[in-house]
Amino acid sequence: MHPTMVYSSAFEQFPISRIPGANVSSVPQRSLLRYPGGKTWLIPHIREWLSRAQSRTLVEPFAGGGIVSLTAVMEELVNEAVMIEIDPDVSALWKTALLDTQSLIEKIRLFTPTRIGVEELEGAKFQSDAERAFRTLVLNRTKRAGILAKGASFLDSGEDARGIGSRWYPETLVKRLQEIGKHAENISFQEGDSMQILEPLLQRLGQKAAVFVDPPYTGKGGKGAGSRLYTHFKIDHARLFEILDRNDANFLMTYDGAQEIVDLIHQHGFHAVRVEMKNAHYRPLSELIITRENLFT
Ligand SMILES: C[S@@+](CC[C@H](N)C(=O)[O-])C[C@H]1O[C@@H](n2cnc3c(N)ncnc32)[C@H](O)[C@@H]1O
Repeated sequence: MHPTMVYSSAFEQFPISRIPGANVSSVPQRSLLRYPGGKTWLIPHIREWLSRAQSRTLVEPFAGGGIVSLTAVMEELVNEAVMIEIDPDVSALWKTALLDTQSLIEKIRLFTPTRIGVEELEGAKFQSDAERAFRTLVLNRTKRAGILAKGASFLDSGEDARGIGSRWYPETLVKRLQEIGKHAENISFQEGDSMQILEPLLQRLGQKAAVFVDPPYTGKGGKGAGSRLYTHFKIDHARLFEILDRNDANFLMTYDGAQEIVDLIHQHGFHAVRVEMKNAHYRPLSELIITRENLFT
């Protein structure tokens, strides 16, 4: 365990998942965003969960970089995915990627990131979703660790000493966008607050929904505080657990090991396992996977 991490001792009571966290290089990278807290390492768990669940629709109420929705649709684990995200910058990116793929591709091909160009783009007023989307993409790829929250700093050195442009791979982004474009008719995107949207959506979809829940964490259980990572980070965790329980949802949820979360797991009679993996900086991390049934021991 990383020495700077503080896990609640209650966290240790959960067994370790029989499926290890994936090395991110072994899983196809499909997202456009470098997302803090991105869930690429979880993909083997998602594959097993969805192949057992046989749900037609995946709902991802805290979409962020959207790796789970993209993988589920592209690997035909479900027929369709519904992504929901509250952040208007991230939302503009997904709306444009899905509905106006070609205009984003053209903007990527024409752009070379320089410090001045990127700073201008950061301060620019955008006229359309496509402009806002492009700004989000560029900032995500030129800020440290992809953090878009206010005050995040730019990369000043990087691979090949290319500085601010060291994570700008236009051809890779274009290829990922082309793949997303091919599957766009099976992915819908809703901008808004999942704490309002999720319950009526689950009531409408009923048993055909599988819900992947990756909210901003409490920050008290070992993982970076949501406030440093995301613009929107306040969640009523107890209410989220209630919504999932009350609607009999087939869900897979990830969380840090804060005492509040451990208590909620017991209160609702849910199952949890720990998954140990290394983050992008090769630091060991441990997170909880919470499900209604016991799937991973
Ligand atoms: C942990 S991140 C999701 C990361 C994602 N699973 C991935 O692999 O990239 C949480 C996301 O939830 C979003 N969010 C926070 N509060 C929200 C709310 N009430 N409704 C919808 N999205 C919200 C944040 O903006 C952030 O993008």
